[in-house]
Amino acid sequence: MTTTIPQNADTTRRELPGYIDEVVEGLSGEAKTLPCKLFYDERGSGLFDQICELDEYYVTRTENALMDQYAGEMAEAIGPECLLIEYGAGSSTKIRSLLDNLKDPAAFVPIDISGEHLVRAADELKVSYPTVEINPVVADFTAAFDVPAPLIKPARNVVYFPGSTIGNFAPKDASRLLKGMAQRVGPGGGLLIGVDLDKDPNVLRAAYNDREGVTAAFNLNLLVRLNREAGADFNLSCFTHRAAYNPEASRIEMRLYSDRPQTARVAGRRFDFEMGESILTEYSHKYTVESFGKIAGEAGFKTRQVWTDADDLFSVQYLELN
Ligand code: AVJ
Repeated sequence: MTTTIPQNADTTRRELPGYIDEVVEGLSGEAKTLPCKLFYDERGSGLFDQICELDEYYVTRTENALMDQYAGEMAEAIGPECLLIEYGAGSSTKIRSLLDNLKDPAAFVPIDISGEHLVRAADELKVSYPTVEINPVVADFTAAFDVPAPLIKPARNVVYFPGSTIGNFAPKDASRLLKGMAQRVGPGGGLLIGVDLDKDPNVLRAAYNDREGVTAAFNLNLLVRLNREAGADFNLSCFTHRAAYNPEASRIEMRLYSDRPQTARVAGRRFDFEMGESILTEYSHKYTVESFGKIAGEAGFKTRQVWTDADDLFSVQYLELN
């Protein structure tokens, strides 16, 4: 008996990634969207690192300088024997400024969705800080997760949320996340957070539409990724990156514009684009110290101390829960 393989067998069929329902839902709505968390595959993370080096992109450079300069004061505000929980830890180096200055931390818990990345970074930290208990947790910090209890009973719990990642969340989602953080740290707990500040729209537009086109490549990489991982067939040369500042909402809105009528297939479905139709790929909200204090206040946090650069581009803020 012989077995024949049908001529039309799809030998390239793979399992679809876990995010596919979100992608299909985002592209099915009246206004098309894609989740910005999908930017950070291997190539996207590399492109983001390149963005951080751009003249126009002041964000990372300014926050790093604030951490270098003021980590001592931040550690002082946090106090001794804290349990420090970092949301979206990745391979950030900002945490080292803090760990260099914190007095007898009970433990450090980096949380990240990318397990491989996280465990590697945690192992490196263990070498540099052999006396600090480091307990990495692989999780999506917008969903439920457990933080392991440290061996030493902490004096207080503190969430560290750098990078102005809070800016990616629409107001409702940012509120929900801040309320989750409040629950996480409990009464007397703290939040040390990097918050990008509202500023001259020209500065903002330049930061998200850089001359070298690195941000454009970063944005388009979403489609590259879907073509590779989700059986999509986006025509990459027919979409254009553009970031606009929305003054009513104090945010940058990053989109990919279809430069002709076209159809793209994703996971076996068809999505039609009119000429000029766009996909919203990212919000980057900009706050004032007051506007952030208001939304954090609704979660029960009180602003204790704010560190900013001389040009008021960026802030690192310490807030406490009553
Ligand atoms: C990593 C969320 C802080 O919003 O500025 C950079 C991501 N997008 N350029 C930001 C980003 C386009 C970035 N954050």
